Amino acid sequence: MLPLSVSVQLFFAALMTRFGSLSALIDLEPVRPESALLKPKVMIAILARNSEHSLPFYLGCIERLDYPKDRIAVWVAADHSSDNTTAMLQEWLSGVEGLYHSVRFRTTEDERSSYEDEQGPKHWPESRFIHVMKMRQAALRSARAQWADYILFADSDNLLTNPAVLMQLMGENRTLVAPMLQSRTLYSNFWCGMTTQGYYKRTEEYVPIRNRKRIGCHAVPMIHSTMLLDLRRSASKALAFYPPHHNYPWVLDDIMVFSFSARQAGVQMFVSNREDYGFLPVPLGAQQTLKEEAESFAHSLTEAMVEFPMQPSRYLTLRPKRKDRMTFDEVYLINLRRREDRRQRMLSTLEVLGIEVTLTDAVDGKALNSSQLQALGIEMLPGYKDPYSDRVLTRGEIGCFLSHFNIWKEVVRKQQKQVLVLEDDVRFELNFKTRLNTIMEDAKHAHLSWDLIYVGRKRLQVKSPERWVKGVKNLIHPDYSYWTLGYALSLEGAKKLLDAQPLSKMLPVDEFLPAMFNKHPKEEYMAHFEQRNLLAYSVEPLLLYPTHYTGEPGYFSDTETSTIWDDESKATDWDRDLAHKKRNRGDAGPTSTLNRGHADEL
Ligand SMILES: *[C@@H]1O[C@H](CO)[C@@H](O)[C@H](O)[C@H]1NC(C)=O
Ligand SMILES: *[C@@H]1O[C@H](CO)[C@@H](O)[C@H](O)[C@H]1NC(C)=O
Ligand SMILES: *[C@@H]1O[C@H](CO)[C@@H](O)[C@H](O)[C@H]1NC(C)=O
Repeated sequence: MLPLSVSVQLFFAALMTRFGSLSALIDLEPVRPESALLKPKVMIAILARNSEHSLPFYLGCIERLDYPKDRIAVWVAADHSSDNTTAMLQEWLSGVEGLYHSVRFRTTEDERSSYEDEQGPKHWPESRFIHVMKMRQAALRSARAQWADYILFADSDNLLTNPAVLMQLMGENRTLVAPMLQSRTLYSNFWCGMTTQGYYKRTEEYVPIRNRKRIGCHAVPMIHSTMLLDLRRSASKALAFYPPHHNYPWVLDDIMVFSFSARQAGVQMFVSNREDYGFLPVPLGAQQTLKEEAESFAHSLTEAMVEFPMQPSRYLTLRPKRKDRMTFDEVYLINLRRREDRRQRMLSTLEVLGIEVTLTDAVDGKALNSSQLQALGIEMLPGYKDPYSDRVLTRGEIGCFLSHFNIWKEVVRKQQKQVLVLEDDVRFELNFKTRLNTIMEDAKHAHLSWDLIYVGRKRLQVKSPERWVKGVKNLIHPDYSYWTLGYALSLEGAKKLLDAQPLSKMLPVDEFLPAMFNKHPKEEYMAHFEQRNLLAYSVEPLLLYPTHYTGEPGYFSDTETSTIWDDESKATDWDRDLAHKKRNRGDAGPTSTLNRGHADEL
């Protein structure tokens, strides 16, 4: 063993050869990189009243915000509810309590379920405005007391579908900014103009911003319902919901009071439409009921589901929704097994609408080979050419035909009096179920015999108007039409379609149907079908639309992009609807819910 001093010397010698000198070693305390800053502290303020219908999905969106929950404080107030709002919020808060920085709940147990001078749940007497202003002010006070950096107000029926919304709004670096929310009309949570009385005024800028033709963060005179306030800005100190500013000149209304307060404080309001941030329902009139409010919300929800997979909160025990088959023996949903996304969306949408469906596997045209086609006796209709491309049937179109055909057989086998057939790429109009039920019941009372009723379709003959059906409201005699998005079919109708033996002279299914009610413009196609006496009708206005139109983002057709059936190597990028749409824009209605005729902001 070496003496200690020798081993120490050897050790230093080794170090010196490695680092050059000892002093260098002592200087070499490593400089570690600094850790990331914690995210700003946010308080989310939730004011809820009679929100049982919206809370599960509203809270689901709040939970899924892409933001560290330990940097969020949740402030909740519930008042004057006649439904289960308070109990639901309590259950949710006890479930999420450990996740968030803090949670607070304000409710007055002995509160009545309405204000004294209130005529209905949608009526806003002054007492109600004052109460709401006081509650919002209480939320603001609490955020300031907690030294929150931001406060996010989000009304309890606003669906923040985009989890990045909070980060995005912070990135705008503004004192007051709202995420632009979509609705089924032009209505949104911002204004571009204001009258001298402080009311809404339509200006030229509104529609381009609302339609996202102009994208950015826009200075506007009013934002409401959902907005982020940066409390670190000195001017924010002057903002208040209550009491109104001493010069406040207008009628008492929480959003007008706050906007006036911002103006007095020299704070500009902004709305950002850089991304799709979410949905809100169109406000109802004073006379409308909670049931109508729930239907309106359900519609916003199904619209939101077109773009985003929506889930209810995981922290609420939900009563199973009551579902039925409307006036039908069975509601068939056609879905291609590999289109899981569409299946999930349709199933959640139908769940929200309370419609019980039977999922049927679509025939996958791409998986069919020539020998299978032969075995099924499939022959193309002689001389069939697609009108826009000159091409013959695609495998996708054959698969689509067979999917419908199999359901018609099923209807006859089960001897079902009437059924509804739905494809999986549809969106539902407001009050779909009630409206279709009414039409079906009216048709029954009027003793109308019918074989097929289109619920969604594309009108092709736009020159001559279609005739209304006498004695049944909202029903017309359809002319040449495309699409099979959804239709009611009777047992007689199913028999007629099968009796035509369509497999041996196949057309796309949406060309076959008009031939069967003698409205196909090509006589030479119709000549192949002897009986063309299908009693066809269409609901009007239509109650179903496609989720996406050809050529738009998110559009992907299973019937029209697969290979031509007699030439398996040849792919087609051809698209009938797109070709058609270029000539006939606007006919089928836009994919966004805007400009649909009944659409306007408030
Ligand atoms: C009210 O909500 C609570 C909490 O979600 C739930 O446990 C209860 O079953 C609900 N009551 C009714 C009548 O829906
Ligand atoms: C945010 O705005 C302030 C001035 O209002 C400015 O000093 C700051 O640099 C901005 N931050 C960012 C990230 O743009
Ligand atoms: C067609 O598909 C069937 C079922 O998958 C298979 O049994 C058959 O061999 C295939 N025929 C040809 C010619 O590929």
